[in-house]
Amino acid sequence: MSKITIAIDGYSSTGKSTIARQLAKALGYIYVDSGAMYRAVTLYALKAELIRDNKLDKEKLIESLPSIFLQLSFNPKKGYAEVYLNNKNVEADIRNLEVSKYVSRVAEIPEVRRKLVAIQQEMGKNKGVVMDGRDIGTVVFPAADLKLFLNAAPDKRATRRYKELLERGDKVSFEEVLQNVEFRDRVDSTRDVSPLKQAEDAVVIDNTDMGLEEQFERVLNLANHVISQKKKDA
Ligand code: DC
Repeated sequence: MSKITIAIDGYSSTGKSTIARQLAKALGYIYVDSGAMYRAVTLYALKAELIRDNKLDKEKLIESLPSIFLQLSFNPKKGYAEVYLNNKNVEADIRNLEVSKYVSRVAEIPEVRRKLVAIQQEMGKNKGVVMDGRDIGTVVFPAADLKLFLNAAPDKRATRRYKELLERGDKVSFEEVLQNVEFRDRVDSTRDVSPLKQAEDAVVIDNTDMGLEEQFERVLNLANHVISQKKKDA
């Protein structure tokens, strides 16, 4: 079988999901946005009022984990899988700054990670998957056939995220978006469990000054190279 597993990790707002979606479409693979799963758990915590006055009740969230049911369901109209939290499509509710503010704190909890990593590994067990996140090449699929690690200058990343939020109609300032990007980078890369770090065998792509087309061409070439190598070895 020549299908491969592609792991894409990197800092917040480096365009991981864009490139992951493009790759999955071109190769006919499944795309899994693992960040959306951490965001959905965060949305659950907000709705259940487990986050109040800027404080997250970790114990209660851990107790509630068995009643959090997550699914990713492919939407053919959009061309990607949308996240369902307890059978409700929450795709439109998980990308706002409120969720972004707390998601890194939820993602620090080992019990949360254990649950989500198990779901992610199950989704990728037959290969033919492109998954993006923070620990995909290091923890979820350490044996992935192709690992990419994306980075870009923080102000460039915040500018991209700021534009996205404005397009959605969210009222945010550039300054708070930049602060959130920097805060998440710090928490995501210094937490005890599965911190964001570059896998030793990852290909690093800094897209600060790279256009989407150039980046896509580069990674598609990389993927095709790995696939043809695999076919030869088979
Ligand atoms: O990819 P994203 O920005 O939507 O991810 C939201 C947060 O979820 C991110 O700040 C850290 C966390 N996350 C994680 O810890 N591990 C992953 N595999 C994916 C996301």
